[in-house]
Amino acid sequence: SESGPTTIVVLGASGDLAFKKTYPALFGLFANSFLPQTVKIVGYARSAIALPDFRARVSSKIKTTDQAALDKFLQLCTYVSGKYDDAPSFQNLNAFLEDVEGTKDPKGKTRVFYMALPPSVFIPASTGLKHWCYLGEGGKNRLVVEKPFGKDLASSQELGTALAANWKEEEIYRIDHYLGKEMVKSLMVLRFANVLFGAIWNRNHINNVQITFKEKFGTDGRGGYFDEFGIIRDIMQNHLLQVLTILAMDRPVTLSAEDVRNEKVKVLRAIKPLTLDETILGQYTASADKKEPGYLDDPTVPHGSTTPTYAAAVFKIHNERWEGVPFILKCGKALEESKVEIRVQFNDVAGNLYPSTVRNELVIRLQPKEAVYMKLMNKEPGLSTDLHVTELDLSYEKRYKDAKIPDAYESLILDCLKGDHSNFVRDDELELAWKIFTPLLHKIEGEKIQPELYQYGSRGPAAAQEFIERHGFQRDSSYKWVPHTP
Ligand code: BG6
Repeated sequence: SESGPTTIVVLGASGDLAFKKTYPALFGLFANSFLPQTVKIVGYARSAIALPDFRARVSSKIKTTDQAALDKFLQLCTYVSGKYDDAPSFQNLNAFLEDVEGTKDPKGKTRVFYMALPPSVFIPASTGLKHWCYLGEGGKNRLVVEKPFGKDLASSQELGTALAANWKEEEIYRIDHYLGKEMVKSLMVLRFANVLFGAIWNRNHINNVQITFKEKFGTDGRGGYFDEFGIIRDIMQNHLLQVLTILAMDRPVTLSAEDVRNEKVKVLRAIKPLTLDETILGQYTASADKKEPGYLDDPTVPHGSTTPTYAAAVFKIHNERWEGVPFILKCGKALEESKVEIRVQFNDVAGNLYPSTVRNELVIRLQPKEAVYMKLMNKEPGLSTDLHVTELDLSYEKRYKDAKIPDAYESLILDCLKGDHSNFVRDDELELAWKIFTPLLHKIEGEKIQPELYQYGSRGPAAAQEFIERHGFQRDSSYKWVPHTP
């Protein structure tokens, strides 16, 4: 922990992200004694809100039975209103911070500026903070930023240049909250602390990989935001691509943030930009019973929008380890269930003695019901000589009964307080990610490519199934993994 006072400044404190994610995560850390002793949390936003009202709103989103901890936490939270593009507002914020910290001397202080802000005020706010609230000599400054980081390569570079004019890369923490998820953090351990995975993790043994994100709800009133971005920018370009890089990278030399991110960057550099013929796009219509509205029925979605709410694409990593192995990324809203998983399908057994063999699969289930299971063949127990498809199953609810899995934001804010960048996106990673997607996005939007329609609550566009199988995935419908229920 830090020596002097640590202040977390939440900008956009009256917004959705702050109430739903940032404050509950800060409370989670506080309740488990993971925040520094000296911490103070200062909310900042445009609206004038009286402190008791602000605290009431913060506490309304925090689910806990520990009222005493919540009361103590709320005492740490204060609020100050101000504009995002105005010097006197930031001067006022700085004076407020010095007051909270109890000294004007920057020595030993840490300030974390958490930008839970819309992209439109991103640049003025980060500039104002640098000019008026930045700790000089002896103090530490950290800037936490959230997607969207632009809409394509050019706009992202523009944002990056504006940010870099004021902030050093080592002061910037770009959040991709998937990097804070328990099962994503566990991926490197699985791969690099187990000899068996290390040995088979390549094109000689792996046939294809799928990374799947499904949500069973639609845009739910977020259509205005969503329509501008679409599912590719909302999920695939960031969350799923990050998972892919960790899954595919080589063993880093050490666990240092730069060593890890160097390996991730090498994977991204080996992927060519996506093309439309390697992509399936979908958009949901009303549910079969008409109870759930279609995407275009959302009043915040522009009439006739062609924005995809489902996408599947195949990524090819052109290096010695992965040449020829398709990585199929799929994501969609308003599907039949909510689930995120990685599915690594292995090759057929060569010279197989048993005709009814199905392929091994390693499944890493990110959520819900975290699990790692390996689908494999076994002999049907007893006098039968039949084969049985079964699994080695590491279900977290069973194996780690009392473990509380922290929210991704808790884990990331803790990393940021420690100054650990491993689970944050570096500038070059971001740029490479945009390079992979930008030509495709421009084509889809420039030519208004019509997505294939699928019903709310279905498995997505029919073409996606054929697409996955075309890329080598063999479906085995005889087997269904049943999540452990305690
Ligand atoms: C966000 C997207 O980044 O991730 C949302 O903007 C999506 O559209 C969310 O619902 C999913 O996150 P999680 O943690 O619920 O899987």
